[in-house]
Amino acid sequence: MKRLIVLLLVFAGLCSCSQVTKKNVFIEKESFGTTADEKKVDRYTLSNLLGMKVVIITYGGIITHLYVPNATGGLNDVVLGYDSLSDYEKGSSYFGALIGRYGNRIANGKFKLDGVEYTLVQNNGKNHLHGGTKGFDKVVWDASSSIENDKAVLKLNYLSKDMEEGYPGNLKVEVVYALTKDNKLEVEYKATTDKKTVLNLTQHAYFNLSGAKDILNHELMLNAPSYLPVDENLIPTGEIASVAGTAFDFTSSKAIGRDVLKEDIQLERGLGYDHCWVLDDSNKGLRSAAILKEINSGIQMEVFTDQPAIQFYSGNFLDGTNPMKQSDSLYNYRSGLCLETQHFPNSPNESSFPSTELSPGEVYSTKTQFKFILLNRF
Ligand code: GLA
Repeated sequence: MKRLIVLLLVFAGLCSCSQVTKKNVFIEKESFGTTADEKKVDRYTLSNLLGMKVVIITYGGIITHLYVPNATGGLNDVVLGYDSLSDYEKGSSYFGALIGRYGNRIANGKFKLDGVEYTLVQNNGKNHLHGGTKGFDKVVWDASSSIENDKAVLKLNYLSKDMEEGYPGNLKVEVVYALTKDNKLEVEYKATTDKKTVLNLTQHAYFNLSGAKDILNHELMLNAPSYLPVDENLIPTGEIASVAGTAFDFTSSKAIGRDVLKEDIQLERGLGYDHCWVLDDSNKGLRSAAILKEINSGIQMEVFTDQPAIQFYSGNFLDGTNPMKQSDSLYNYRSGLCLETQHFPNSPNESSFPSTELSPGEVYSTKTQFKFILLNRF
């Protein structure tokens, strides 16, 4: 009789176990300290069964670590970052951060909306860059996490008040990071305003797929037949130029180091690549914008977006002063590169560029995804 009861219990246990669906993704939360002005910051780790792990802090919505499988069976952390919160607070390189309200430059920090001129913080010479001195990269976001449809989801919310850094309108922003079970990091941006404003949100992760001292051996393909030449202050001239026959042609995959030292006034102005490529729009909506690969690590990252453009920045302002995480070293010149999906820089002052205005009643909604796979090297 006893034996029968034990058997029945084991059977019942097996039945209930088989009803528990297998978890493919996981979320952990811990404290990441407090900011200089005493705000609590949390750190979330989203992971999946394949080993991919994304670490995000609520300060700036910063991706501090991004571990992806490499060709030798280990994991590579493929983004640049710091160890401490105070380094992120001090930093001016926008490592891993969410950027807003306006990613990239606005000439002279000024623009007009319905005849009213607005003056923004000038934090890049005369220009306004990446939302100002206290942009979305330097604020603490409200966070909540959940597991939805096999995705580990982190929702970040921030209210940017009317006239913050000079921008009109109370802007409610939501950014949702999601890690899928098949090594894709999805980023979705949403925003609404109570007064007409301008907006260009992006993500400023610096990638280095191998951890080598610079990214010059990384191969890049950009699905972009044209780019925006810039003036001496890195403001687009207004021309949309064909990449054909120039160092800016990444329509076929090539090493970043191949043409970066070519004599070219645009490369001189950018100190390398620091330009906005206009994406091929033949197939609007979420589409492949860029493929980055590094042969030694065997890692390939593909970027999908519904945005009209991508800023490819080859880390030209990294000057050996930023402390490297988990190391005593410093980040060198070109030790990371950014692929910032976005609208064109300075659009509020260029009527020929696609509009970046947002009016009350409208919902700003965009998507970008980073998909990691292993290269077939043999
Ligand atoms: C961007 C800009 C660069 C530089 C970096 C941050 O991507 O285009 O010129 O300001 O951010 O250092």
